[in-house]
Amino acid sequence: DHPTDYSSVLLTTKRARVRHLLETQVICDLRPGEAIPSERELVRRLEVSRVTVRHAIEDLVAEGRLEKSHGRGTFVTGPRIESRLHLMSFSREMRARGLEPQTRVLDACEVPAVVTVAERLGLEAGTPVVRVERLRLADGNPMAHETGFYPAASFPGLLELDLSSLYDIFARHYGKRVTSGEQEIRAEAADTAQANVLGIPRRAPLLVQERVTFAGKETIEFATSHYRGDRYRLQMDLTPSG
Ligand code: GLP
Repeated sequence: DHPTDYSSVLLTTKRARVRHLLETQVICDLRPGEAIPSERELVRRLEVSRVTVRHAIEDLVAEGRLEKSHGRGTFVTGPRIESRLHLMSFSREMRARGLEPQTRVLDACEVPAVVTVAERLGLEAGTPVVRVERLRLADGNPMAHETGFYPAASFPGLLELDLSSLYDIFARHYGKRVTSGEQEIRAEAADTAQANVLGIPRRAPLLVQERVTFAGKETIEFATSHYRGDRYRLQMDLTPSG
């Protein structure tokens, strides 16, 4: 006979039940951006223990229904950005959704390409590339943290320009229009650095997009973008294969 320990099962159930109560009795009456009541108030209203309330809130934060703001409270999150998979710049994608894109350039410099970057750009290792690290926001909310590499020879003087929209600069200043791309998407848990930049808890889900972009036959970009999993959704049209 193996006695079964049901304690964790029961705990999960209770936690899930309170999570459900929170959604159907509290969050449903609030608008995005509004704060949920204090833990103490929720304990009183839902007649459950403080620990269970705390766990249920943690689950809703992990799911992206709520977000915590240090010292200010816990808030209902805004709508997610739904993105159809196509070749678009961040700036255009946000404007297409009625949101104002903003860019904070965190770092921009010229460096010799390391092997992994050189390979993706079709260059010899050590070739000068411009590295641009940016925080992308929509209506003031952090959406993505992006780091891209661009062949320096293709974009002379790039570092002197306003780097808010790279695809716009490439077209207007260099006459290079993005014509195609290759992209991989994967899931990752935020490490401490990503979490800090994006304003999310450590280990929160991220959608990582790795993109190589072409202007005709020329490879002009290798970029990795970390999107907040709670604010980003990707949609695609499916056609039968073969
Ligand atoms: C998306 C892509 C990036 C690309 C960026 C360009 O975010 N994931 O690879 O660099 O668009 O956008 P913008 O023209 O706004 O800089």
